[in-house]
Amino acid sequence: MNETKGLLIQKAYNKVEKYKDKSKADPYRLTYHLMPPVGLLNDPNGLIQYKGVYHVFYQWNPFETSHGAKFWGHYTSRDLVHWHEEPIALAPSEWYDRNGCYSGSAVESDGKLYLFYTGNVKLEDGTRETYQCLAVSSDGIHFKKHGPILRLPKHYTAHFRDPKVWKKDECWYMILGAQTLDEKGSAVLFTSKDLYHWEELGRIAGSGMNGIGDFGYMWECPDLIHLNGKDVLLVSPQGLEPSGYLYNNLFQSGYFIGKLDYDSLNFQHGSFTELDRGFDFYAPQTFTDELGRTILYGWMGITDETEIFQPTISNHWVHALTIPRVLQLKEGKVYQAPVEELKTLRKDKVEVKIDKLKGTPVHLEAGQSSELLLELLNIEIGHFQITFRNEACFILDSDKNEVSLQRKNLKTGDLETRTCKISSLSKLQIFMDHSSLEIFINEGEEVFTTRYFPNPKDDTIIIHGDAEFKLTKWDLG
Ligand code: FRU
Repeated sequence: MNETKGLLIQKAYNKVEKYKDKSKADPYRLTYHLMPPVGLLNDPNGLIQYKGVYHVFYQWNPFETSHGAKFWGHYTSRDLVHWHEEPIALAPSEWYDRNGCYSGSAVESDGKLYLFYTGNVKLEDGTRETYQCLAVSSDGIHFKKHGPILRLPKHYTAHFRDPKVWKKDECWYMILGAQTLDEKGSAVLFTSKDLYHWEELGRIAGSGMNGIGDFGYMWECPDLIHLNGKDVLLVSPQGLEPSGYLYNNLFQSGYFIGKLDYDSLNFQHGSFTELDRGFDFYAPQTFTDELGRTILYGWMGITDETEIFQPTISNHWVHALTIPRVLQLKEGKVYQAPVEELKTLRKDKVEVKIDKLKGTPVHLEAGQSSELLLELLNIEIGHFQITFRNEACFILDSDKNEVSLQRKNLKTGDLETRTCKISSLSKLQIFMDHSSLEIFINEGEEVFTTRYFPNPKDDTIIIHGDAEFKLTKWDLG
């Protein structure tokens, strides 16, 4: 270990030591979500099941609750439920990553674990450099940096990052998020035979390509996956203008479904669909596990002007990842369902059958981390609403075929709303944690994810409306 790396890592551990008790005691600390011990977490990185063990790495600034020179924090698990905090995987210690080991991915080859990430370098004159880098491990815990394996090609600005690598027919492929010189967000494909030498194939999708018109100035965290015979490009574009109910967060994460011809690079795809309809979801990444499931984690946060108002900052930590979600393609849409393993957290089951609410609200005590399953028994519902701990509200307006989520804006305190269209509502599966909500509609046809910060003592749920339903509730331990 070189001296800078040793010192940096020691400094990070000192910070953790200093603030970990304060952060642990925060009433908004989550029970079954991955969080940084202290400091700021953003994107999930390097997701993989390696030698049977699940690995989740994450963008981490251990020193501040703001963005900066990122490390890769690291958790492992055998069941996607119980996690173990591992030593720091990557620290921004080298000339090529000194301002951040930015996002990337993991693959296994010949029994070794390969991490690909972006080395972020900021120069004194304010410009930046970007290097796609490799680090290798034989035990999944200790990583040896190999340095840059890919330099910035012509035609792109230094906003060129977030390598996602996969194998297809004996070839390795890497997709990167990029900005062209005329500031169009793009996804660029590379190929390699040995993981060390990479050749540019070209842009497969982007603003102005494949019939999508202007579509943002930068695309972050692309991920190309294969679902049900289709190629699905997940991507987080920046620079989309709000349009009705769409694109109301500062940045978006969503997907294009199509078919990529790896020879001609022709990627015929449909329109962009947002993966999540809530307030806090960005930079998702997927991996395929040994059971063949495509599992997604997202960052349950976003870099916008409200970020600095998160109340956990006073306890020296901020942000979390979503729960793991299994992706499936059904009728031209990506469905997301919580992984089955989360059922092992269920305890103290309560079942309620409600015939018609008709103006009489049902009050429940939910506990602060619980799961609710609502099966709607009559489809002809009018208005139906669930208030969570007097701080957030989920509303069905069946006249308009719309569902909405409301919460208070962290900066202004004003009520804010996100809405999406649905054809009908038959089932809701809701994961509540101390300061988060993940609402899965109709087996994951739509999902609303949000952080919220209710009075920590308030654990009431109020259901109000005109509906017949069965409700099952579990505490999640
Ligand atoms: C997305 C992102 C990535 C980048 C990382 C830096 O949230 O901006 O593009 O690699 O975060 O932390």
